[in-house]
Amino acid sequence: MAEVILAKTAGFCFGVKRAVEMVYQQTGTGEKIYTYGPIIHNEQVVEDLRQKGVTVIENEEQLRQLESGTVIIRSHGVPRYIQDMIAKQGLKCVDATCPFVKKIHNVVMEAAGRGEQVVIIGSGSHPEVEGIKGWCPADHPAVVIETAEEAQAFETPVGRGICIVSQTTFNQKKFQELVAIFEKKGYDVNVVNTICNATFERQKEACEVASRVDAMIVIGGVHSSNTQKLYEICKRECEDTQYIQTLDDLKRSPDSISCVGITAGASTPNTIIEEVQKYVRTYF
Ligand code: F3S
Repeated sequence: MAEVILAKTAGFCFGVKRAVEMVYQQTGTGEKIYTYGPIIHNEQVVEDLRQKGVTVIENEEQLRQLESGTVIIRSHGVPRYIQDMIAKQGLKCVDATCPFVKKIHNVVMEAAGRGEQVVIIGSGSHPEVEGIKGWCPADHPAVVIETAEEAQAFETPVGRGICIVSQTTFNQKKFQELVAIFEKKGYDVNVVNTICNATFERQKEACEVASRVDAMIVIGGVHSSNTQKLYEICKRECEDTQYIQTLDDLKRSPDSISCVGITAGASTPNTIIEEVQKYVRTYF
């Protein structure tokens, strides 16, 4: 029987785990439950919640139609006006915004309040960034910067302070490079590094586990970019690395292996990880 090493950081990060648990806590209350966007990018979890009476609302228009029930905000957070809409419509709001993201909302709100120009380093189309933008008042809008070219082209009146924050999942090295561009321009820059270490820690541990096993299993959705990245990292360290969505995809490795590593992407539920782990312990 092969030894199994399960990465401690496999699967949900703290914020996603908390948000998913908050949705499950709301089920069974008899209330109508809605999540503003899918709570997580995992079909099995969303389907399981649907069967428990949780409906996903996709946009503002659908939110406007609601007359009663509870709306749950997912870990990415939402712009302030969405939260205001929920309150104005007399709906109950359960805010599952990750506390690390909530902190960014507070930082940008205060900075904009002091008259500083808020700069968000991240991808403008990412829901988390849209949410952060939405906590700056309309007369002090934030600017989103993703590339070095955008940072070079950025201008603001001399003397106005700049507050720089980042999308929690932004690449640390790229963030430092972009910040350096702002600093070189001679602006008065207040940098609040809001990158969350969960992704980095998961990748670091995956690399470390993959380097000392005979076979490695990476579990996660085919479209999950963070799982794809984990797979690439593991494959570099361990030739016999499998990328599976569920236990059904798993192929047995040769009998000669003595140690198997397991990790999983950020949206892989614990139930699937447990199932794979149990199988490997029994049959490998
Ligand atoms: Fe997860 Fe929150 Fe970090 S949602 S990736 S713990 S910012």
